[in-house]
Amino acid sequence: MTVLQTDGLTKRFGGLTAVDEVDMSIDKGEGVSLIGPNGAGKSTFINLVTRRLEPSEGDIQFNEQSILGLDPHEVVQRGMSKSFQTASIFPDLSVEENAIIAALAAEHGSFRFNFLRHRNAYPEVTRVADEVLESVGLYEQRNATAKNLDYGNKRRLEIGIALAAEPDMLLMDEPTAGMSPEETESTVELIKEVKEELDLTFLLVEHDMEIVFDISDRIVVLNRGQVIAQGTPAEVQDDPAVQDAYLGGAEE
Ligand SMILES: Nc1ncnc2c1ncn2[C@@H]1O[C@H](COP(=O)(O)OP(=O)(O)O)[C@@H](O)[C@H]1O
Ligand SMILES: [Mg+2]
Repeated sequence: MTVLQTDGLTKRFGGLTAVDEVDMSIDKGEGVSLIGPNGAGKSTFINLVTRRLEPSEGDIQFNEQSILGLDPHEVVQRGMSKSFQTASIFPDLSVEENAIIAALAAEHGSFRFNFLRHRNAYPEVTRVADEVLESVGLYEQRNATAKNLDYGNKRRLEIGIALAAEPDMLLMDEPTAGMSPEETESTVELIKEVKEELDLTFLLVEHDMEIVFDISDRIVVLNRGQVIAQGTPAEVQDDPAVQDAYLGGAEE
């Protein structure tokens, strides 16, 4: 099944075509990375897909239905989740409560604030939350207050919050930005584990090639808004067009 498909997706800013007739398709369970030099159009592409920018032309299908015309929050409710958003954590709530709210938000559209006082009425939501905490390695710390987690565990909780909504696709924009080498390594391992365990479909924007090659089933290379190459990490690595694009980008 195709989870995400874009057809001729185009975004112009005045005379500049930031995203230029991009056809991209991502199958269920596939982990795809979007790479390209600075200014290639990666962020614009993500903003189109999440409906924060209106395309100039083209179509976007999510779960085989066009999402043109939807608001960003409606896209989230259809199962597209974006991780590594700052401010996705409620700092004064427990780790488990954060996961519960995320699971509940997906189920009910928006969470009800008095829910936490009646959580036993929602055993299913608590079960999903605890499973997610287990898979991101935070179950033991489920009663800790979120703000007291160290940096690496906060990032784990952010992934957990995104996963608790049981998304059909997870978008990640530079998930390891600002992390130490150790935190980066553990986050990359975590994403790989979660992908295996949950058959997760993801679209990753990342400039660290080591991470991209390690984590992706397929890589799509953008340059000046256009897809110039795609394939497995090995195929993309050997592609002369990709090497040219990066060298060209460095000279600008
Ligand atoms: N809101 C905007 N208005 C005008 N130009 C923009 C806007 N957003 C991005 N651009 C331009 O579009 C091109 C692609 O940008 P962007 O998608 O941020 O690239 P990337 O994320 O790959 O570095 C760049 O030339 C950038 O300057
Ligand atoms: Mg960008």
